[in-house]
Amino acid sequence: MASTHTASVLVASNRGPVSYALDEDRRLTARRGGGGLVSGLSAIGPDTDAVWVCSALGDGDREAVRRTGGALDPADTGGRRVRMLDIDAQVHSDAYNGIANSVLWFIHHMLYQTPLEPVFDAGFRRQWAAYESYNRAFAEALAEEAGQGAAVLIQDYHLALAPRMLRELRPDLRIGHFSHTPWAPPDYFRLLPDDIAAQLLGGILGADRAAFLTRRWADAFTDCCHAVLGPGIPSGTRVGVHGLGADAEFLRERAHRPDVDERMATLRRQIGTAPDGGPRRTIVRVDRTELSKNIVRGLLAYEELLQSYPQWRERVVHIAFAYPSRQDLAVYRAYTAEVQRVATEINSRYGTPGWTPVELHVKDDFARSLAAYRLADVALVNPIRDGMNLVAKEVPVVSDEGCALVLSREAGAHEELGEEALTVNPYDIGGTAAALHTALSMPSGERTERTKRLTAQATALPPARWFLDQLAALEG
Ligand code: G6P
Repeated sequence: MASTHTASVLVASNRGPVSYALDEDRRLTARRGGGGLVSGLSAIGPDTDAVWVCSALGDGDREAVRRTGGALDPADTGGRRVRMLDIDAQVHSDAYNGIANSVLWFIHHMLYQTPLEPVFDAGFRRQWAAYESYNRAFAEALAEEAGQGAAVLIQDYHLALAPRMLRELRPDLRIGHFSHTPWAPPDYFRLLPDDIAAQLLGGILGADRAAFLTRRWADAFTDCCHAVLGPGIPSGTRVGVHGLGADAEFLRERAHRPDVDERMATLRRQIGTAPDGGPRRTIVRVDRTELSKNIVRGLLAYEELLQSYPQWRERVVHIAFAYPSRQDLAVYRAYTAEVQRVATEINSRYGTPGWTPVELHVKDDFARSLAAYRLADVALVNPIRDGMNLVAKEVPVVSDEGCALVLSREAGAHEELGEEALTVNPYDIGGTAAALHTALSMPSGERTERTKRLTAQATALPPARWFLDQLAALEG
């Protein structure tokens, strides 16, 4: 693809704003990507010269790149310029599945525990070389697209080396790096081989600004720099914090469309009525099926609720949506199976002819997620660690009757919502069961008041503002 050298604003991320499915007749269908980054970029609008550089992730994406040369059809991207890179499939897999999701994700979420241990052998070094080439491909594409002095916002742990590589290619650019994950504390970060730890930090320090979702993650990054590279943040990189909130306008409009109403009717039938004829209460969780989300302990806490507070039997349903994620990785597949096994076990142990205690659904359906948000009496968000967690912010905004929020103290969202939520230690199953009981028992007046305050906090930093603030800080 010919270089343009024209864009004044660029975004780079592994997952782009659109992905393609290829059907049997080799027709391509574009699907808009979800998440805060997509909403955030919408702030720029279609009539600008901004370019979003992302990677092809599957066969559909690769075919789209082949047909377009990488500059995606604006009809598929809401009129925005998107350049999709067709990185060699093996290189991408080693970088994305091998390094980014098996090593860096596990380090920042502190997921390694015996017997799941990191392996830094020759295979790891081969994958690391792929991670370097993958980052270089992004740096080169960005260098080609960027106009003189452009602002470049590089996203997440997939692209920790790209800032320094880009700086070397184009010293004129203003470069920001943003981490959507937590950042590990030094003792844990230093599980990584020393040279790799230094390269990751040095890569991000190639940016003018390194930004994080909360102060806690920003401080951990600074602490890691001191521990690995010596005192002081070298190269004048500024460290910043930009929280990301729920997009209230979008969510409220989307949650009241007919497809959501239809799914609410189905869910209501599944929930059923309590023995006294009133509606059953609902505990709702919506996650990718992801180890850091702690879904199994959430189910065990619900089981303990039914065991220790038997008054809730037949009167509550746990709606758990656990959408498949990163299924190329065996550890994710095993976790998905474990989630299903535990849910089935709870249903066979406690279920009765008219009551299914856990409604577990694994097929991704955004409209059904919103329907569950609207019906939620309690939202359960109990990750082991989480950069922010937008579900914690979205449920209070969307719920029809207001909801009580049971929230892990290890989620970034806890820094903002902690006062109004019922805080749990994510490892404490008994404590989480007790918090669920308190949440279900909360008087409706208190629940309404808390939901109002949660909503105000949750919507204080809409995605557009998150994006524009970063741009302004980089330009300042
Ligand atoms: C987290 C990461 C994102 C990533 C998302 C989904 O939120 O911070 O960068 O896109 O998970 O994961 P996936 O591997 O499907 O892109």
